[in-house]
Amino acid sequence: MAKAAPRYVCQACGATHNKWSGRCEACGAWNSITEEAPREAAPKGLGGGAKGRKLDFVGLTGAAEAAERRLTRINEFDRVTGGGLVPGSAVLIGGDPGIGKSTLLLQVTAALAGAGKDGGARCLYISGEEAVEQIRMRARRLGVAQTAVGLAAATNVRDIVASLDEATPPDVVVVDSIQTMYVDVLDSAPGTVAQVRASAAELIRLAKRRGFALLLVGHVTKEGTIAGPRVLEHMVDTVLYFEGERGHQFRILRAVKNRYGPTDEIGVFEMTERGLTEVPNPSALFLAERRGNVTGSVVFPGIEGTRPVLVEIQALISPSPPGSPRRAVVGWDSARLAMVLAVLETRCGLALAGYDVYLNVAGGLRIGEPAADLAVAAALVSSRSNVPVPDSMVVFGEIGLSGEIRAVAQEEQRLKEAAKLGFAEAVLPPRRQKRPAVSGMKTREIAHLQDLVALIAAAGQGERGQPGRAAVGAKTAGPAGR
Ligand code: TYD
Ligand code: MG
Repeated sequence: MAKAAPRYVCQACGATHNKWSGRCEACGAWNSITEEAPREAAPKGLGGGAKGRKLDFVGLTGAAEAAERRLTRINEFDRVTGGGLVPGSAVLIGGDPGIGKSTLLLQVTAALAGAGKDGGARCLYISGEEAVEQIRMRARRLGVAQTAVGLAAATNVRDIVASLDEATPPDVVVVDSIQTMYVDVLDSAPGTVAQVRASAAELIRLAKRRGFALLLVGHVTKEGTIAGPRVLEHMVDTVLYFEGERGHQFRILRAVKNRYGPTDEIGVFEMTERGLTEVPNPSALFLAERRGNVTGSVVFPGIEGTRPVLVEIQALISPSPPGSPRRAVVGWDSARLAMVLAVLETRCGLALAGYDVYLNVAGGLRIGEPAADLAVAAALVSSRSNVPVPDSMVVFGEIGLSGEIRAVAQEEQRLKEAAKLGFAEAVLPPRRQKRPAVSGMKTREIAHLQDLVALIAAAGQGERGQPGRAAVGAKTAGPAGR
């Protein structure tokens, strides 16, 4: 057998390379490749070894009913998991250090241990990062110190498996974090791709065999010395990311993969003195600090998962010093911004060369929908032409490369949420069929991006007291209820 050469493994995505390089070709991460001891090569083929066991094939329907999911009654969490934790499933919760993963999971286990008709689930919390006393302190701060959660500080997977592999297994197990765990038959240090994968594989196999829900915490790391949660994404059933700006108190739990429920569902929390509290009405929260009648500010009625969420999109365009102008984006895709800018320049004649462009989604939310294109364009045009978009207006629609405005899904839901929050007018894509009216909402269809530019220009003229129609009703009072 050939002598095993050292492997170079990207700690961000898990790709293996033959030689070291500064940048991983697979995922583009810099400085993330480290050398790892080679693994035993897998035997080639089955050879002439023992005969395999014959499989029994069964039909698609069976007698066994689905196992009951475990609800935490923390609605924002239950919705993201698709209606509670599934016994025997593995959930990965990724996020930046300090974002609140340990806090969330302690609250979740406490809720599970204290909920239910039969006295609650048996929950265990295994920490490889903090001492038992530290977790107790957090539990006191969260007001859950009286709940029956079992605590342990451990990092050796062999010990953990030995403790969990019993006849009466627990219902829910948290392992915080997977990057501190190690399997003692591997030489690599904890946190390397090899250790993280091997530890997770052992724990997941046990969870499936014993039927408990396993919650794995994974830190997202910027530097490449610790393996990121992405190397585990394919091994688990559900992947949740806990996001938010450290400076903001809002936290968003987002499902990016879920074998047992919808993805793209979000749960919104607020980090307070006493832990995470649910935010049942995120629209009001994301718009709380909005000031009306400001140039470059537009409200976008988005859909996150199954839920409409209104957010403010802010743009600032300012003359840039000679050289290359800046394009800075927070909360949106920078490639998408480049596209919208290009369409505005080419199809609408808006001069943007020589200007810095800043785009921000207020409140720390990340938007991935193309439906936000038109709202972004409106914010850009408003800032560039120095005309505020009326503050009773919401804007949505997808922009095509020729400048045409394309229809988006769930129009009615967007309009209803906007009406609920006191908005009176919507700029949206044209539609062939008649759209059902949403009470209190005036709709204005625009077919091409040029129409949006004209609309905002007309609003500016209306405001400056010139004759002609103030096309967008700039006189409407601001929305109420904020
Ligand atoms: P933590 O759950 O330890 O983060 P992670 O496990 O993701 O690394 O939470 C860290 C931050 O949360 C810390 O900066 C303090 C803050 N925090 C609160 O604001 N309120 C609280 O009740 C708790 C427990 C933490
Ligand atoms: Mg932690």
